[in-house]
Amino acid sequence: VKKAAQKAAGDAPRVSSLYVLGAGIMGGGIAWTAARAGMEVRVKDISEAALQKAMEEARRLAAREVARGRLSEEKAQACLARIRTQTDDNGADQADLVIEAVVEKLEVKRQVLAALEPLLRADAVIATNTSSLRVGDIAAALADPGRLVGMHFFNPVPVMPLLEVVRVKATRPEALALAVRCGLDLKKTPVVVSDCPGFLVNRILTAYINAFTRLVAEGVDFRAIDRAMEAWGWPMGPALLEDVVGMDTGAHVIEVISAGYPERMAADYPDVIAAMARAGRLGQKSGAGFYAWSRGSDGRLT
Ligand code: 3HC
Repeated sequence: VKKAAQKAAGDAPRVSSLYVLGAGIMGGGIAWTAARAGMEVRVKDISEAALQKAMEEARRLAAREVARGRLSEEKAQACLARIRTQTDDNGADQADLVIEAVVEKLEVKRQVLAALEPLLRADAVIATNTSSLRVGDIAAALADPGRLVGMHFFNPVPVMPLLEVVRVKATRPEALALAVRCGLDLKKTPVVVSDCPGFLVNRILTAYINAFTRLVAEGVDFRAIDRAMEAWGWPMGPALLEDVVGMDTGAHVIEVISAGYPERMAADYPDVIAAMARAGRLGQKSGAGFYAWSRGSDGRLT
């Protein structure tokens, strides 16, 4: 896989200036990972509070790297100093690559990217971190759709090695190569996938989550399922995973994939995840999902 990625990256230049749209869990994780890899990062969000939260998390991760002896205090501070947060569009004209990680709504993604595009250099590449929307539907909002690719990271971004790089028909080869090169520089394992609902991983994950929710609806304790899957060797079971991913995101992925592949999805799967999302039980981000969550004195969620 690495060799294929190196081939796909070709002689694409390194990304030195990255512009991240959205300071949520994914945007914040991407920003820290990029700064850790030596890139200059600007993170834009409309919410000052979201930007502050992302920086707090970056500081926590930096401190952990120092405590583990993987970074000196000086280098950790230098990584943090490479991240600039903003609510305006400053520096967009310097970006080699923009990664959009705003809310998973097609119209919002289309609007923010269409508004940003005129401020960018003509050769700047735009990537969307959408987890299941069609990248082609987002590309249609751009004056230059050839500059758009998907870069689908997994949560938590600093630890998960896989990166799905999504090619749309219109994507220029140089844009694809730059996204793959960036993925390699972020120490990820990029795989190039086609533009379809759910790409590669979320199609498989959705079948798994639907099998899980069917068991829950039949009365099996979700904790018992988690313990069994962990004992089987997976890092976390499905209930905990949905708490990490967030019920809103999880429900959206299931909805998009169900609509995209009606012939492959059971029509009567129990909508446990969507019901929890509607009830505000979003998982770690809201303090309760399948499990109850609180932040310890070291800032870690337990
Ligand atoms: N951010 C950064 N680093 C984190 C982290 C976070 N949120 N959570 C854990 N880590 C790091 C820890 O710092 C630790 O690193 P270190 O010990 O080397 O410093 C390392 O990960 C292991 O952490 P822990 O020992 O605390 O806990 P675990 O061994 O249980 O690992 C885990 C935690 C990496 C999250 C692991 O449980 C895991 O891999 N879970 C599966 C996650 C997964 O499948 N994600 C994909 C979700 S699907 C998705 O994102 C797609 C979307 O489109 C829906």
